[in-house]
Amino acid sequence: MNPSFETVLARRMGRRPLLALGAAGALLGWTRALRGEPTNAAESDLRFAPVPEDAGQRLLLPPGYRSTCVLAWGDPLLGDAPPFNPRGATVEAQARQMGYNADFVGYAPLPLGSRASAHGLLCVSSEYTISALMWPDEPRSPRQLDRDRCAVEMAAHGLNVAEVRRDVAGRWHLVARSPRNRRVSALSPLRISGPAAGSVDLRTGADATGRLVVGTLANCGGGMTPWGTWLQAEENFEDYFAADPARIDERQRASLDRLRVGRESRYGWERYDIRFDVAAEANEINRFGWLVELDPYDPYATPVKRTALGRFSHEAAGIVLDAREHVVVYTADDAEFEHLYKFVSARPFNPSERASNRDLLDAGTLYVARFDADGTGLWLPLVFGEGPLVPARGFRDQADVLVRAREAATALGATPMDRPEDVEPRPGTGFVYVALTKNTQRASDGVDAANPRGPNPHGHILELREGRGDFGATTFSWDVFHLCGREADGGAGRGEHALSCPDNLMFDAAGNLWVSTDGQPKSLGIHDALYCVATTGPKRGVPQRFLSAVPGAEVTGPCLTPDERTLFVAIQHPGEGSTFDAPSTRFPAESDSQDPPRPCVLAITREDGAPIGT
Ligand code: FEO
Ligand code: CA
Ligand code: CA
Repeated sequence: MNPSFETVLARRMGRRPLLALGAAGALLGWTRALRGEPTNAAESDLRFAPVPEDAGQRLLLPPGYRSTCVLAWGDPLLGDAPPFNPRGATVEAQARQMGYNADFVGYAPLPLGSRASAHGLLCVSSEYTISALMWPDEPRSPRQLDRDRCAVEMAAHGLNVAEVRRDVAGRWHLVARSPRNRRVSALSPLRISGPAAGSVDLRTGADATGRLVVGTLANCGGGMTPWGTWLQAEENFEDYFAADPARIDERQRASLDRLRVGRESRYGWERYDIRFDVAAEANEINRFGWLVELDPYDPYATPVKRTALGRFSHEAAGIVLDAREHVVVYTADDAEFEHLYKFVSARPFNPSERASNRDLLDAGTLYVARFDADGTGLWLPLVFGEGPLVPARGFRDQADVLVRAREAATALGATPMDRPEDVEPRPGTGFVYVALTKNTQRASDGVDAANPRGPNPHGHILELREGRGDFGATTFSWDVFHLCGREADGGAGRGEHALSCPDNLMFDAAGNLWVSTDGQPKSLGIHDALYCVATTGPKRGVPQRFLSAVPGAEVTGPCLTPDERTLFVAIQHPGEGSTFDAPSTRFPAESDSQDPPRPCVLAITREDGAPIGT
């Protein structure tokens, strides 16, 4: 029988917190040195006046802070890009302009290897499109779009590399049409590498090699590698595929059911491109749901889908080195009752020769997490031939294990989680934080120690400490760091210090966890926001609201420059729920503009130029 919420919570809260930093401090030095961070940063020395809960029209920041829009949907990126024209969009224009709905934001300093904080490349994903806000005659659904408009929306997905500079007045600007700028979309060629590349499950009518694919999509969170490349998640790829159950074979149907692929896709692309009709092209769907690596410093580099890191609705890529300097990538599968994963590379990172790290992510071990009720946990390897991952249990080879990672994780006994979103290791400490955004499907008698509420409308944040403080360990201990929602709803949020539905995470050098939310309008009746949460000291676990967004919008990114004097955030889906002609906001334009709202990236700085949050 499953324990009740009260029993589980009492057990969790009664256990002595395992999280005094102790040995963690000893490891701080080397990783900070690797990242070039100051090693004497004051712990959790937060000094800003939190903004109030808000549901108004304006973006709110603490006094003394300002924001500039650096990059917005439709901004010209490539050399021959026309200016933004929302009433005359074409696929040719969109393929050269900034895409829609920014989610991940990374900053790659220029030149490569420097800590330049006034000149760099923004690496920004464009996760999905919203037809009602993109087109003047307000289609109610993307399934109403004609072929040309569908192609524009395909071109508005994907990856954006944009050169940006800070001027002497401290304001950031896009270097429009720079030769360093780049667009990769759902229409671009990509390579597939790693153990599943070339497997029978990845070969299609158009690609007999199983190593070449057109497009990346549903690009949600990501991370920057120590060698300066960008690792980008493909998340809700199932929304783009249609699978008529009557036309699908039995074996594939189980996988498609697990992915929740419907009879019709959400976006209707299968009407114009049979690749998105699983009955017509069974394997195309196996070529999505990976992590994509792109070198932002080489505008001609072909992006690569790295299959060693598994296939599922990848939310994020939290990248760090272990004690042996092997690369560890934390990633999560954002769906109800799916899992938390990490990958450990077979070879160590080579800091002295960039090229030797090029294919580092093609070999290594993918693990999935099992959380035990006593506050310990195990990383279970997804290795063909080990445990249940054998032919007698339906697994053919390592490629099969990686393509069907969800099913392999279940066979191993991984813990089903409350929609794991971003995962952020705190460098040098062995601590890892996991945002569980919410799970309204969890029943009250279906809770477990790591997912202690059923239903869970507010989500929670878990704190893991890897064995011996080493990110490469196969055991860990864990605790609930923050049970989200207000006190009155059983959460830890008191007064103005409540957050709900945690999504994107980031650490600053002082060890504060920055948390942005996705769902507060419904769960708390306020706009989504960005919070700063101390992980040590007297304010540990108390959310301080730093930014409150505009109607319909979610705050994503976030990302600091190396000097921490600029914070980049994305404002995703401003105006969501309204339409092009009657938008609930015209952000980032003023309300008297005729422009529709535009998903965008903001640069936030202090008027006195000092580091953010200090
Ligand atoms: Fe794209 Fe799970 O957020
Ligand atoms: Ca997310
Ligand atoms: Ca989100």
